[in-house]
Amino acid sequence: MSNEPQPEDGPGGASASGGQPGDPLWRDEFPLTSEGEDYVARRDFTRYLIAASGVFAAGAVGAGTWATMQRANTGEPRPIIKEADIPEDGEYLFKYPGDDDPAILVKLPNGDLRAFTQKCTHLGCVVYYKPEEATLYCPCHHGFFDPDSGAATAGPPDRPLAAIDVEVRGDTVWALGIET
Ligand code: FES
Repeated sequence: MSNEPQPEDGPGGASASGGQPGDPLWRDEFPLTSEGEDYVARRDFTRYLIAASGVFAAGAVGAGTWATMQRANTGEPRPIIKEADIPEDGEYLFKYPGDDDPAILVKLPNGDLRAFTQKCTHLGCVVYYKPEEATLYCPCHHGFFDPDSGAATAGPPDRPLAAIDVEVRGDTVWALGIET
């Protein structure tokens, strides 16, 4: 029987600290077996999956919160006009919720006030009040809306105008926010 070191034993020869006889020296310093390597790999992969799930969950919650905030961002309460200054025809155009957002205030024949975004829900033209026909009218493609509810009543539009909550405070009409 030869005492010559085997090629795999390296310069120190066979394991000196508990390895199996014939194991290469590197086994002492890196004592993982292939089974252990599989275990580590699975464990790391599981950690990765958990971390990735956490990131996706946090992203979904963040996106949902952002979407909710966007929906909730429907304008701050703001005075529109003194009620006595509403024109005779019952229509007053203003901007709401932003300075570039056209809106329309309507004083119905019974004195009730309604307000809507002025953008037609068909293709975005502006709508006007036609008191003589008791309708809101979009001239682009002859769309009609109910000035009481904002519901589409005729023509291409199939969705109601977005309503703006209004309230009279003292002698002034206020916009409170877009209804969602
Ligand atoms: S944009 Fe108003 S009916 Fe088409």
